Amino acid sequence: MNRPENSILVIFGASGDLTKRKLIPALCALNMQNILPEKFAIFGLGRTKLSHDDFRDLMNEGIKNYSDSYDEKNVKPFLKKLFYQYIDATHQDAYKNMTTKLQEIRKEMGVGGNTVFYLSTPPSLYAVIPKNLAKHNLNNENDGWKRVIVEKPFGYDLKSAIELNHSLHEDWNEDQIYRIDHYLGKETVQNVLVTRFSNGIFEPLWNRNYVHHVEITAAEFIGVEKRGGYYEKSGALRDMVQNHLLQLVGLTAMEPPSAMDSNSIRNETVKVFQSLRPIKEDDVINSAMRGQYLASTIKGEKIKGYREEAGVDPNSKTETFVIIKFYIDNWRWGGVPFYIRTGKRLPTRVTEAVIHFKPTPHYLFAKKDICESCNQLVIRIQPDEGILLKFGMKVPGSGFEVQNVNMDFHYSDLCNQKIPTAYERLLHDSLLGDSTLYAREDAVMAAWKFLEPVLNAWKNNPKIPVYGYPAGTWGPENADNLIEDPTMTWRYPCKNLSNDGVFCEL
Ligand SMILES: NC(=O)c1ccc[n+]([C@@H]2O[C@H](COP(=O)([O-])OP(=O)(O)OC[C@H]3O[C@@H](n4cnc5c(N)ncnc54)[C@H](OP(=O)(O)O)[C@@H]3O)[C@@H](O)[C@H]2O)c1
Repeated sequence: MNRPENSILVIFGASGDLTKRKLIPALCALNMQNILPEKFAIFGLGRTKLSHDDFRDLMNEGIKNYSDSYDEKNVKPFLKKLFYQYIDATHQDAYKNMTTKLQEIRKEMGVGGNTVFYLSTPPSLYAVIPKNLAKHNLNNENDGWKRVIVEKPFGYDLKSAIELNHSLHEDWNEDQIYRIDHYLGKETVQNVLVTRFSNGIFEPLWNRNYVHHVEITAAEFIGVEKRGGYYEKSGALRDMVQNHLLQLVGLTAMEPPSAMDSNSIRNETVKVFQSLRPIKEDDVINSAMRGQYLASTIKGEKIKGYREEAGVDPNSKTETFVIIKFYIDNWRWGGVPFYIRTGKRLPTRVTEAVIHFKPTPHYLFAKKDICESCNQLVIRIQPDEGILLKFGMKVPGSGFEVQNVNMDFHYSDLCNQKIPTAYERLLHDSLLGDSTLYAREDAVMAAWKFLEPVLNAWKNNPKIPVYGYPAGTWGPENADNLIEDPTMTWRYPCKNLSNDGVFCEL
């Protein structure tokens, strides 16, 4: 694998949760694989006062707790690349000290001027920090490239996303801006492209002539945990659909790119978003449904309802569950319904895209409900990453009884192949200057534009209900109502409650 040029990664928000849980373990894993730049340093910034050694100890704990494996022999030299300084990033003057320290580290570590700035702070600083960096000339590429990674969420709605984008573009070019969507860094999400475009057998069927409908589910077993305050302002639509799930739709539905490069792939994703049939605000009730988890008992444990969680308004209407039905108005997908479903406190943790192929034109064997006789291709994003094809087989014995069986591939069967985490892949790509798996401005705006009427209707129309569902169930009882065909239901990847994170298959 390519080794990026010598460089430094500057993390704003280095004392926060994301840095110790995801970023540093990912960077340590890249170091162990010997694919970080030969000369490299990580400069952490945050409001907590920490010495370099305090920071290294804290990150060491993060690596121990959140990596697959821990090997002190490898971790020790990695920790020497870490530095830390206090900053209040809202104060323009603070950037003087920061720049001085940055220059010292560059000199000490011999890393040169190439720099990635990672914004792992509250979203309110996503415009402030790049602006202040530019005021101190830290966007200047005379001494090496400069890139800025912006964490999610990119905006709160279409208007705020446009404003943030505009502010960034005052000082940074689009090719310097990396909008992270960690779903795109997942191996199995990228495998959607490989499955589709490296095999001759799927793509001829991947269209309105053979596909009955497409279903994408991202189920979470956990609730909002300690993030009630954050989630109140976000909700499932902003937290999951606007970014992760629509990106997954983009890859599942796009045309073959002309080349495997950043612009070709992102051009095709954007074309999908531009073809999404707009949902009218007064028709949202027929295209989208929202829900909220209620208190229940799961395996003897009492679970709080969303409105009882810390930081949540007892009268909150924030959705913890969303389903949306929509169409992609182009030649490939005309008339094929797409269904997206996501929620918290569902029976299991699973993300999957399911292509339901049309049933046979004539039932030679006993007739079943449409869904049962559809072949399904299940692309499992997480956990137990893999691909599963469901098809009918004869049950041994007299007569012609047909049973659905699975042709199943699990990534875990690839012995000795470690699956890189999404952050490993994305951080490595940012150092290489490859933005293919980062969201481009037009895609982000198109996604917000598509969801804007849903957000508006939910905000402005008190008659649109928020349906309750007991924690540990697959959402509101009437979740099937949005599905066009009355003989069909959602696919339930797990009929009964599973343990956290344990994937189960019907
Ligand atoms: N955690 C995740 O799994 C996850 C996943 C996806 C996206 N994100 C996004 O990533 C961002 C960071 O998430 P997080 O979970 O790490 O949040 P967090 O634990 O609250 O950390 C926020 C960080 O920002 C720093 N900060 C806040 N105000 C600052 C200021 N004025 N100047 C300098 N530093 C300041 C904090 O410093 P102090 O604590 O020292 O005050 C802390 O280091 C968020 O925007 C979140 O939406 C997080």
